[in-house]
Amino acid sequence: MARARFITFEGGEGVGKSTQVRRVAQRLRALGYGVTTTREPGGSPGAEALRALLVTGDTERWSPLAETLILNAAREDHLARTIRPALARGEIVLCDRFADSTRAYQGAAGGLAAEFILRLEDQVLGETRPDLTLVLDAPPQLGLGRAGARGGAEARFEAKALAFHERLREGFLKIAAAEPKRCVVISASLSEDAVFEAIWAALAPRLEAAGDAPIASEPH
Ligand SMILES: Nc1ncnc2c1ncn2[C@@H]1O[C@H](COP(=O)(O)OP(=O)(O)OP(=O)(O)O)[C@@H](O)[C@H]1O
Ligand SMILES: [Mg+2]
Repeated sequence: MARARFITFEGGEGVGKSTQVRRVAQRLRALGYGVTTTREPGGSPGAEALRALLVTGDTERWSPLAETLILNAAREDHLARTIRPALARGEIVLCDRFADSTRAYQGAAGGLAAEFILRLEDQVLGETRPDLTLVLDAPPQLGLGRAGARGGAEARFEAKALAFHERLREGFLKIAAAEPKRCVVISASLSEDAVFEAIWAALAPRLEAAGDAPIASEPH
């Protein structure tokens, strides 16, 4: 089994991605691993500036094509300035959303052609692909309810119609079914503790021993 160093957390609105990234980082650090946590859109100064354009304002502010182009510009910067340097230092990278969110939001739910999205993804990611992707899955109403209760200004995608969020969920499940070696579907309807334990059960067997991190010159 490939050792997991670049780990992404995916899923719809409010399923608990950010909560679990924090918890996993805490557990890994307690075990002695070097950890970088980051997020998309964002994760580098340039990409965070682009995030602000994407997650605020009217739901129809950008077309799925425009979103995909902005997201990939942000991702290229994020990879170059944050993700690849952290991996080169031998750290574990926990990323709150990544390329699967573009496949699901702009592709499956937004209607943009999958081939186009995948070609861009290939160009932007190159060799830097997640070793493990945790797909947090819950009925859209549940996640939207949690996210709504949490509040905040970044609600542009949350505000889209329920049918959008249903397509989104199906999109993530389809990605997981197509790439079963990389993706693990985690039921996110359970308590925070139960979700964490399910994630840890998937993750722990894939970790290399702490202190055994590859030297910086080893290709990822
Ligand atoms: N398993 C859980 N059960 C109940 N509430 C939860 C659970 N996990 C997270 N929450 C709460 O639900 C809200 C959304 O969680 P969180 O922000 O982690 O989700 P997210 O997937 O990162 O959302 P977004 O897609 O908006 O970034 C938070 O208020 C969080 O405390
Ligand atoms: Mg979040």
